[in-house]
Amino acid sequence: MARILITSAIPYINGIKHLGNLVGSQLPADLFARYMRGRGHEVMFLCATDEHGTPAELAAAKAGKPVQEYCAEMHKVQADLARGFRLSFDHFGRSSSQRNHRLTQHFAGRLADNGHIAEVSEKQVFSIDDNRFLPDRYITGTCPNCGYEAARGDQCENCTKQLDPTDLINPRSSISGSTNLEVRETKHLYLKQRALKDKLEAWIDSKTDWPVLTTSIAKKWLNDGDGLQDRGITRDLHWGIPVRRGDQPWPGMEGKVFYVWFDAPIEYIACTAEWADANGRHDADWERWWRTDKGAADVTYYQFMGKDNVPFHTLSFPATILGSEEPWKMVDYLKSFNYLNYDGGQFSTSQGRGVFMDQALSILPADYWRWWLLSHAPESSDSEFTWENFQASVNKDLADVLGNFVSRVTKFAQSKFGDTVPAGGDYGPQEHALIADLGARIRDYEACMNAIEVRKAAAELRAIWVAGNEYLQSAAPWTAVKTDPDRAQAIIRLALNLIRVYAILSRPFIPDAAETMMQAMGSSDWTWPDDLPAAMRSLTPGQPFSVPENLFRKITDDERADWQTRFSGVRS
Ligand code: 2FM
Ligand code: ZN
Repeated sequence: MARILITSAIPYINGIKHLGNLVGSQLPADLFARYMRGRGHEVMFLCATDEHGTPAELAAAKAGKPVQEYCAEMHKVQADLARGFRLSFDHFGRSSSQRNHRLTQHFAGRLADNGHIAEVSEKQVFSIDDNRFLPDRYITGTCPNCGYEAARGDQCENCTKQLDPTDLINPRSSISGSTNLEVRETKHLYLKQRALKDKLEAWIDSKTDWPVLTTSIAKKWLNDGDGLQDRGITRDLHWGIPVRRGDQPWPGMEGKVFYVWFDAPIEYIACTAEWADANGRHDADWERWWRTDKGAADVTYYQFMGKDNVPFHTLSFPATILGSEEPWKMVDYLKSFNYLNYDGGQFSTSQGRGVFMDQALSILPADYWRWWLLSHAPESSDSEFTWENFQASVNKDLADVLGNFVSRVTKFAQSKFGDTVPAGGDYGPQEHALIADLGARIRDYEACMNAIEVRKAAAELRAIWVAGNEYLQSAAPWTAVKTDPDRAQAIIRLALNLIRVYAILSRPFIPDAAETMMQAMGSSDWTWPDDLPAAMRSLTPGQPFSVPENLFRKITDDERADWQTRFSGVRS
């Protein structure tokens, strides 16, 4: 039994995530966690909300709530939605937890002790009316290059020129609109990543099995242009983790907090400590996942994230860990995703374009979405959600192929042979051939899942469902029953066993339907079918089964058209 640590990129606290966010990290991470548990491995699967930074402060202000209260509420909203999508986190933590405060301060202290921190004085825009320093992108003004009046302090959206806030003509605060701004001197901590470049490069080069998407982004940031830059890890904000050097104050850093991207990945570790606290465990119980000197040397660690998060996870966070010179577990495999687009454009949180997690669950159960999203995961390139494609996939794969198999088999079995697994006959050449074929297909499916080739795994699973249908079609128990009832009983016994095997194999993709199938087969034995011939005899003659409710319903053309209109525009 292996020990598998899995983390999903932690979603920002402000707002409900759309399906593009979901398929880029949390959902494939869940697929993998469920699969690894199904194979009998010990899994620790973690996610959390990413709660610090200016966007959280502004969202709270907009909602008219203190930021702590806003974050607590939104954490609950996101946790409920995660449950709705059946995301099977062992813990869904919060980056604002005390555990993360202490660990983040600990890492900063270690980095400073090891000479990896520089104190840098810089000039920054201060808004007197807002009583705060303004991050570059929260300053608006006229672009000196093209005259666009709503250019941001970091970049002009109109002509794409990179800007410095002091370049803007008539600068104003994007928060309050105030023009009462001044440039003030402020001191910040920088992580000297440049000095860690060789170590980082050697570490990335050692990861020869990583997806091309991951390594290409990592290497681009390592070597492009000026290469790896030293990075500011503190901010002049109120909401965040106070800057301390371990458990000591940091002279000159009073009132400042760590940059959200410094503390967010540390939350992966802190989250495991939160899990221990929530479950009455000891520190040793979480440390055995993270400290290679305390048992984590035999852990394999997988991270899941969208491509925009790759630089932080291949450079900045590893720099934090390497620079600490402590034996923390580093990622073994980093699975990254491209973007999912929405119906000819992009998902947009600001414009409310696309389907958001709460809306998705309000129109269809989680399995429908899980299946479509995972079977169309944006792995080798960006992919696109269209309502036509969604309707076609659900209706074909889930309703026609899998759902229909289960309903035909169970209804026929019940009407001809009653409520128990029929005893007649035995498996013949056709069944043996099917079992051999399925055995090979299951090994292919496992290979894809082990390699986290999500789309291919979905295609293999679908092929396994199709093989069952084809078998049923050609074995034709409805014909056999007229002349050779024993033969018909053997066919049905095999088919009922196959439903149970489908439940096990399909569970990582469609956990609710899998549960329904397993229950209907009167079993609770989720043992992975390593020995398929044995698994195909798991349900014994005389054992009761039931006809499940329709597993999947079809999406009608009217519904499709209605949803297409409903989700095209502004979120209400
Ligand atoms: O892109 C995002 O949603 C970030 N909140 C991801 C952070 S992942 C990590 F660093 F914790
Ligand atoms: Zn411009």
